[in-house]
Amino acid sequence: MEKILNEIKEALENVTEINELNDIKVKYMGKKGVINDLTSKLKDLTVEEKKTFGQQLNELKSNVTIMLDEKRNEIEKKKLDEKLKNEKIDISLPATKIPVGCPNILENVIEELEELMMSMGYDVVEGPEVEKDLYNFELLNLPKSHPARDAQDSFYTKDDTILLRSQTSPVQARTMEKGKGETPIRIICPGKTYRRDEDDATHSHQFTQMEGLLIDKDISLANLKATFDVVAKKLFGEDRLTRFRPSFYPFTEPSVELDISCFNCGQKGCNICKGTGWITVGGAGMVHYKVLKNCGYDPEVWTGFAFGFGIERLAMLKYGINDVRTFYINDLRNTETYNRRDV
Ligand code: DAH
Repeated sequence: MEKILNEIKEALENVTEINELNDIKVKYMGKKGVINDLTSKLKDLTVEEKKTFGQQLNELKSNVTIMLDEKRNEIEKKKLDEKLKNEKIDISLPATKIPVGCPNILENVIEELEELMMSMGYDVVEGPEVEKDLYNFELLNLPKSHPARDAQDSFYTKDDTILLRSQTSPVQARTMEKGKGETPIRIICPGKTYRRDEDDATHSHQFTQMEGLLIDKDISLANLKATFDVVAKKLFGEDRLTRFRPSFYPFTEPSVELDISCFNCGQKGCNICKGTGWITVGGAGMVHYKVLKNCGYDPEVWTGFAFGFGIERLAMLKYGINDVRTFYINDLRNTETYNRRDV
């Protein structure tokens, strides 16, 4: 056995490659190797002999294993050292560009509005997109068979009590319900809304709105006008003028359309304002007394205003986009282009 050990030691001295090492391993430790050959001789020995011979054999095996492992480590380390020696890193090379994402354009508009409204003390709240008819319509003074429901042709689920919300206005009702008719309310609610519209350049079956609601004591249209003024100037420039145009919404009385002076032509008339000098960006009004009542607020004590913006419309005006489908076609070039323009 000593002879074998020395033989292996000698053989390993000249080994520089892993495959040479493997050859030695097979020769001595393989199935038909020298050591296995010795093992097969065990059966011809007496019990006593077996004991000592077996022990020596085990020792030999573990010694050889250690020697082979050490040699393997030595070869691998040598190879790695050589590789590192030849490897050069040029730290003056410019770094590779890592592509970074950018927010969706609609998200930009929402964030800008959220920041502004929060600075005026509004909370941002969310409501469910799968909504009860009760919140989406009934509590908002749109009972079944109300003709104004037709304007919001909706996606109902299994029956006529649950639908994909057709507006963010149901969050008004949900928030008032939580307020229990007692606390002042100042909230905005951005979110997705759905209507059974044919998709084209100006219609989308899914779109985004931002609702606003303020309930307190002694609130008047003047407060709404002042708030709208701040929003218009922030989104479309300091020299924007604003105006109210009479309108109708079942949940507000009086109701108004929110117009801003055209930022494109300085009110001379262009194709964006269709020659009128004014652009409509949302709807609003004083919360209808029936809505206050339905949601637990005493209209003799509380008054409030509400407003709703179409986020796609705001984004289209702000970024000069003329097809609403731009937001939904998953072409990242759009997102990148309009974000860059915004910087
Ligand atoms: N929910 C309305 C719509 O989708 C928009 C709206 C108008 C919201 C007037 C309001 C409001 O809160 O007061 O057409």
